[in-house]
Amino acid sequence: MDDRFEIFLVATPGLEAPLAAEAAALGWQPVVQPGGVTITGGWTDVWRANLWLRGATRVLARVGQFRALHLAQLDKRARKFPWADVLCRDVPVRVETTCKASRIYHAGAATQRIERAIAEELGAPLAPDAALVIKVRIEDDLVTISLDTTGESLHKRGHKEAVAKAPMRETMAAMFLREMGFDGSQPVLDPMCGSGTFVIEAAEIAAGLAPGRSRGFGFQQLASFDPAAWDAMRGAAAPRPAIPHFFGSDRDASAIRMSQANAQRAGVAALTSFDCRAIGDLERPGCSPGIVIVNPPYGARIGNKGPLFGLHAAMGQVFKERLGGWRVGIVTSEGALAKATGLPLESGPVVAHGGLKVRLWRTGVL
Ligand SMILES: C[S@@+](CC[C@H](N)C(=O)[O-])C[C@H]1O[C@@H](n2cnc3c(N)ncnc32)[C@H](O)[C@@H]1O
Repeated sequence: MDDRFEIFLVATPGLEAPLAAEAAALGWQPVVQPGGVTITGGWTDVWRANLWLRGATRVLARVGQFRALHLAQLDKRARKFPWADVLCRDVPVRVETTCKASRIYHAGAATQRIERAIAEELGAPLAPDAALVIKVRIEDDLVTISLDTTGESLHKRGHKEAVAKAPMRETMAAMFLREMGFDGSQPVLDPMCGSGTFVIEAAEIAAGLAPGRSRGFGFQQLASFDPAAWDAMRGAAAPRPAIPHFFGSDRDASAIRMSQANAQRAGVAALTSFDCRAIGDLERPGCSPGIVIVNPPYGARIGNKGPLFGLHAAMGQVFKERLGGWRVGIVTSEGALAKATGLPLESGPVVAHGGLKVRLWRTGVL
């Protein structure tokens, strides 16, 4: 296989653009596509993408392509594929196939041919629950073989054990912060912080901590894996000093305890502070103005919508009265609730969030 290949960074739908911006900031030349971003690189780029990207949900290495017009041809070409260049004989794998606009239209039959080729030609075991997944896409009769180099979704940073109601995914939180213009230097405040996702992500970004520093990845099971080079890459990520101006509050005392525990596990307890208070009791932080980012209850998943209008109106009033100079971002599935704040908001693109469609609504400086 070539030293350089296409690497597809899977995005949360609607957050492709900030992911591309993040990849560009890390030195790649990203191309935005529906559902993700393509970069070109080698195995060390795959490791670095998994270790450092905050907005990707997984990283796929496109390791090969061939045409197949029917199943017998797929079988033959899959048997010739240099599996030993990428897979290890002793690591169980499974294959997932999708077919689109192709003469081969039966994904199950295609999966069976490719799995059999891997088992018989390479000798690797197949297992329906294997952690290592080979993703095969057959589109216009072209078979693309990708390896899922991530394993468990990248929003699982490995620090959040405690989860409050309706938590925001870390990958989304990081991209919404980026869309607010957060670059690690500004204070951040989330007055309905739940399990603390926005505040902890912001503090980690400020401290230069790699999001994947505490977890394992699928690529560690591949033939190309070099443990010494990986340790060196991880070890080179030195945290930088950061200002302790990342604030969360919530009216729910158990949410605050979770936030504190999560921040502790993430190694950012000293940069964050969490207080149990309702939005009406919010106090202006003593630092220079920064970014408020909040993901209030929507009603679709938790509670009913009616009283939420009053809550949003009160929240907007509090922000106007106490947070002059700050900028506000509200993540919600309900445009009417965002408008009920009375804040001058502009909406961003629709983003898929656990079956809901949310948007980031932003103000300028209040
Ligand atoms: C959708 S959740 C936020 C989830 C959070 N972004 C996370 O990642 O875990 C909404 C939060 O708003 C809090 N909340 C609801 N009403 C509130 C109020 N009046 N004052 C403060 N917090 C409130 C809830 O306790 C809940 O934790």
